[in-house]
Amino acid sequence: MAIDEDVKSAPVDSGILDVIRRRWSPRSFSDQAVADADLVKLFTAAGWAASSYNEQPWRFLVGRRGEATYDKILDALVEFNQVWAKTAPVLILSVSKMIFSTNGHPNALGLHDTGAASANMSLQAAALGLQTHGMGGVDREKARASFAIPEDYEVGAAWALGYPGDPEALPIIYREMEKAARIRKPLREFVFKEWERAADMAEM
Ligand SMILES: Cc1cc2nc3c(=O)[nH]c(=O)nc-3n(C[C@H](O)[C@H](O)[C@H](O)COP(=O)(O)O)c2cc1C
Repeated sequence: MAIDEDVKSAPVDSGILDVIRRRWSPRSFSDQAVADADLVKLFTAAGWAASSYNEQPWRFLVGRRGEATYDKILDALVEFNQVWAKTAPVLILSVSKMIFSTNGHPNALGLHDTGAASANMSLQAAALGLQTHGMGGVDREKARASFAIPEDYEVGAAWALGYPGDPEALPIIYREMEKAARIRKPLREFVFKEWERAADMAEM
C-alpha cells in the first residue's frame, strides 16, 4: 500500500510553501519510471540556484536502472544505502567544482552551492509528485575513480529519485522510519541573535 503522504508532510499550519511541506526522503520507491521531461525540469531547477560569483559549480551524474552510470553510483554507496536505494529508478551523484573557473582560486562555497542546487532539484521533484533521498553514505574515492572525476572537483552526495513506493516492501529495519512522522528542531535552537541565544521574533 502506498504511504500516507499527509503523515510525511510538515504541518499544514507551518506557513511555508506547499512544495517544501511535501518534500520528504523515501527509501521505498515504486517501479514507475521517471519521464525524461521531468528529469530535465529537475536539473533545470537545480541550474537556477544561486551560487557564489555565479560559478554554478554543480555537476550531476545521472543514471537510470539498467544503465552503467546507475550501477557505478549504486556500487559506490555504503551497504546500508545500497539495500534500499536499488529500488529507485534513477540514481544521481552530485559533484562540485572546488576552484573558480575565472581565476583558479579555491571556491570554499562550492559544496554549499551544489547543496543549494540539489535542494532546488529535490523541491522540483516534490512539485512533480516525485521524491529524492540524499545520501552522504558514499565511498567518495570509489565514485571518483569509477567516473574519473578530476582532482579539482569534490564528490557531494548521491541521490535516489523516483515515486514513493510501499513501505512494507522494505526490509524490516527501514519500515518504521519510512512511516514515521518527520520532526524538526524549533527555530530558537538555530536562529540566534548571539551565539546560541535565540533571536527575538514574535511567534518564534
Ligand atoms: C546530504 C544528505 C545526506 C544524507 N545521507 C543519508 C544516507 O547516507 N542514508 C540515508 O538513509 N539517509 C540519508 N539522508 C537523509 C536524511 O536522513 C533525511 O533527509 C533526514 O532524516 C530528514 O528527513 P526528510 O528528508 O524526510 O525531511 C541524507 C540527506 C542529505 C540531505
